[in-house]
Amino acid sequence: MKLELWMKKEIPEWSLFLFRTLQLEDDEATRKAGFEVAQTVQSGEIVGLIGDLGAGKTTFMQGFVEYFGIARDQVSSPTYSLVNEYRGQKNIYHLDLYRLENLEDLESVGYWDYFDYGGIVCVEWINKIPESWHKNGQVIVMIHKEDGRELRWFKTKR
Ligand SMILES: Nc1ncnc2c1ncn2[C@@H]1O[C@H](COP(=O)(O)OP(=O)(O)OP(=O)(O)O)[C@@H](O)[C@H]1O
Ligand SMILES: [Mg+2]
Repeated sequence: MKLELWMKKEIPEWSLFLFRTLQLEDDEATRKAGFEVAQTVQSGEIVGLIGDLGAGKTTFMQGFVEYFGIARDQVSSPTYSLVNEYRGQKNIYHLDLYRLENLEDLESVGYWDYFDYGGIVCVEWINKIPESWHKNGQVIVMIHKEDGRELRWFKTKR
């Protein structure tokens, strides 16, 4: 589904609202945004990452983990590994649904277990499988712009 369409259709169902829009001029600004979002996330929450190929989702995660005392060079794309685990002040489970198709696939990889470990679950391509949403959390949408990227930060309505 096209990103714009998906945002109209699916995000309301997840009870999210647009909290902030940020313009990110380079990859360092993307990491800084990740660090800022990390400060607001609670254990057990999900952080969904949405954006086309190369939008900056993994770069965002580099800044995100630094807030928990994890070195950015530990972060790699989980496209093939499906999940990367980083151990820090909080443990971060970095998943990627790019290669999965449906709810059955999620269950076969033990997706729901990651929410029970007291860490934070971050999911790239969360829009591939809308059933992957887990109650409370935040969604980051990254959009290519001529000069860098635009980041749309959504939060759960409370
Ligand atoms: N704000 C930005 N402005 C310009 N380039 C950026 C910005 N943020 C990240 N990049 C660059 O975009 C490229 C792709 O980033 P990244 O790998 O994080 O994307 P991704 O969304 O995870 O891609 P994939 O869908 O393949 O997993 C990298 O070279 C990164 O340095
Ligand atoms: Mg990536």
